[in-house]
Amino acid sequence: LAQQQTAKLVLLGEMGSGKSSLVLRYVKGQFFDYQASTVGAAFLTKTLPELNVKFEIWDTAGQERYHSLAPMYYRGAAAAIIVYDITSPDSFTRAKSWVRELQRQGNPNMIMALAGNKADLEGQRAVTVEEAQAYAAENGLFYVETSAKTSANVNELFEEIARKLPKP
Ligand code: GTP
Ligand code: MG
Repeated sequence: LAQQQTAKLVLLGEMGSGKSSLVLRYVKGQFFDYQASTVGAAFLTKTLPELNVKFEIWDTAGQERYHSLAPMYYRGAAAAIIVYDITSPDSFTRAKSWVRELQRQGNPNMIMALAGNKADLEGQRAVTVEEAQAYAAENGLFYVETSAKTSANVNELFEEIARKLPKP
């Protein structure tokens, strides 16, 4: 039997992009229309028995005043999910600046996923799939559009990261 692997995973992205909602959907199968803005960071775990992976998940706060805390959460992380809101160009700009910060200061072997969240709000889309896909390809990120609300692609996002982890 393969030994279970523990992997530190961090979520980064603009305030309101849906980081907590993605984690809550994934770990607890819940979604709230009024999700409280995260203070500091939240810690949750989830085990994927089929893949022998235990995720230790740090859901960071997107508010700018918490920016200086971020390195504590991404340092030593095996993977990062950078989240933006497909209805918000500003959140996409912020996602790109998180990617640059991780490229400069993160673990060089970190698996990075770009999640275009709120895909259920297609009518309000302001960031095209093509633009995000091109950016992700140029920067070696794995890209997926998700909806914490409908749960579209949420399990797929985390499972794909688990599959990409280097074998212990
Ligand atoms: P901070 O903790 O402040 O950094 O924000 P966050 O990135 O954790 O965002 P949060 O999960 O709190 O979600 C912000 C708002 O967006 C909440 O009102 C959620 O209900 C809503 N939301 C999150 N994900 C989705 C989604 O996939 N679709 C829709 N329609 N709304 C979403
Ligand atoms: Mg949050």
